[in-house]
Amino acid sequence: MQLRKEGKFRRCARVYLKSRKYRLFLQTQPDFALKSLGIHKGFLRLFALHPACVCEISVIFFVFRYAIRKGWLLMRHLIDPLDFTKEETQKLLDLADRIHDDPEAYQDVADRKRLATLFYEPSTRTRLSFESAMLRLGGKVLGFPDAGVSSASKGETVADTIRIISCYADIAAMRHPKEGAPLRASLYSKIPVINAGDGGHSHPTQTLLDMMTIRRRKGRLDNLTIGFCGDLKFGRTVHSLIKSLARYDNIKFVLISPEELRVPDYIINEVLEPRGIPYIETRNLEGALPDLDILYMTRVQRERFFNEEDYIRLRDSYILTAEKLSLAPADMAVLHPLPRVNEITLDVDDDPRAAYFEQAQNGVYVRMALIMTLLGLKDPKTGEVAFEC
Ligand code: NCD
Repeated sequence: MQLRKEGKFRRCARVYLKSRKYRLFLQTQPDFALKSLGIHKGFLRLFALHPACVCEISVIFFVFRYAIRKGWLLMRHLIDPLDFTKEETQKLLDLADRIHDDPEAYQDVADRKRLATLFYEPSTRTRLSFESAMLRLGGKVLGFPDAGVSSASKGETVADTIRIISCYADIAAMRHPKEGAPLRASLYSKIPVINAGDGGHSHPTQTLLDMMTIRRRKGRLDNLTIGFCGDLKFGRTVHSLIKSLARYDNIKFVLISPEELRVPDYIINEVLEPRGIPYIETRNLEGALPDLDILYMTRVQRERFFNEEDYIRLRDSYILTAEKLSLAPADMAVLHPLPRVNEITLDVDDDPRAAYFEQAQNGVYVRMALIMTLLGLKDPKTGEVAFEC
């Protein structure tokens, strides 16, 4: 936990002072107060405390709890797709839409701010779209594209690296092959940390751009049937998007994969089942296509397989062609986080339902919105931050 800006601390003090009326009430009605707080009078006698003193301590406790809930005292990071509430996500996507419609208006917003991109795993879109986003906001970028050129190759820990980067930059985006590495970094960081993909676990910024694309294409994030196809076991973009969309109403999932690449059990047992979200698991892409609003294709994640033979056996499990796409509704959208290998043939690219290049473009706007929000930078159009961080 980190104390952030003095302004937020002052705000806490203001709320505490404002709670005067409540404190007076508690002080004049100590018996009632103690009862409502569940404190036994014997406890006070034991420590020779005056009831008014206990009331005061309890008010401080409530103000702090309120401030922590509001994010006034905690530095916000984006590690998990659920770190932002549904409302906050909505506001972030609204800001991304405003940037999309008038990018020039945002060109000086992050003047003199620095983004560090710490990539321990290969990336084209995620790293470069983060860098493009910061440059388009008028900020600067620094970082490394590969663990081999950083001190990680000498054995430096993620915790030490982020402590150092906190001295050089205002915000950091980290991709790492180990699940949980960005979370660990955030515990030692003095600057906001963004998870740009951790192993086969999670990829929250991809989720934001997927949601932006779905919302722009379909005009909604609820009442959707979404098919995920391919490597649902190792595809971190799949896990994050399912977790996020599960918060919307009337969502149905169709999970299309070979048996070996089924979605992990925790997604079924901790996300879908407890919320009673309808889902089916199938191996049949063609059979599922006619009912889908969104088809989310994925690459088989070669780098996460334990042996090459399994990869070779499974890599061609699903190939979406223009011919197969003719089975799908005319207004379905085909998404793919990219890179593609062979799971979507080139003849699909010209189909108006292909949304994957649009997704990559939206990635820049959503990351501009995210950087602005985590840095507390105001939207020049509204004069406000998307939400308090
Ligand atoms: C995805 C990733 O890295 O998880 N790509 C991306 O960020 N655009 C998907 C993938 O690599 O297959």
